[in-house]
Amino acid sequence: MQIRTADAGDYPGIRDLLNAAFGQPDEAKIVEALREDDADSLELVAEDHGDIVGTVMFSPASVGHASGETLNGLGLGPVAVIPKHQGKGIGEALIKAGLEHFEPYPVAFFCVLGEPEYYRRFGFTAAIERDWMWEADDGSVPEMRQAFQIIIPRAIPPGKGIVRYHPAFDG
Ligand SMILES: CC(C)(COP(=O)(O)OP(=O)(O)OC[C@H]1O[C@@H](n2cnc3c(N)ncnc32)[C@H](O)[C@@H]1OP(=O)(O)O)[C@@H](O)C(=O)NCCC(=O)NCCS
Repeated sequence: MQIRTADAGDYPGIRDLLNAAFGQPDEAKIVEALREDDADSLELVAEDHGDIVGTVMFSPASVGHASGETLNGLGLGPVAVIPKHQGKGIGEALIKAGLEHFEPYPVAFFCVLGEPEYYRRFGFTAAIERDWMWEADDGSVPEMRQAFQIIIPRAIPPGKGIVRYHPAFDG
């Protein structure tokens, strides 16, 4: 299995994979909208014997911070592995490769909305522990608060933060 940057020739395979993994078209549409807006900061695929078996997208996100500053980070997702290849470490390899790719860059934070049990292994922790929230979280779904997680690679002063994904995620 090889992990590499996605190119246009992979797009139909990525769409089919996302539709199969999520069982709905929403995530594939988000990915297409991100590409159209040049907001596909990093799109990786896992290729196995010529087949696309996994994919991950990183796109720009920002946080309006209590300090008055707007800090730029990256949203992780969608990430997906074709159902028959799940549970073999492909998702983990894709996410680790993505996070490592950005190590040389001054990324203020990474954020993800997903199962804490899965994302903990990469260093994600609940954003709310730092008083950071996803802007779409109105508090009506308590699980969402724990599911919205961040990694802050470099020191940032404490204080409330409201995180905004790229508009492709709206709706
Ligand atoms: C989530 C997903 C990308 C993980 O990729 P994967 O290649 O199957 O996962 P890996 O092989 O890297 O990791 C397997 C581990 O993750 C755990 N895991 C996988 N999906 C999980 C989930 N939704 N919640 C909690 N744990 C999960 C497995 O139990 C396993 O744990 P272990 O290492 O302790 O045995 C993949 O299962 C998938 O495409 N799911 C459907 C789409 C989806 O839900 N994407 C995430 C949206 S945020």
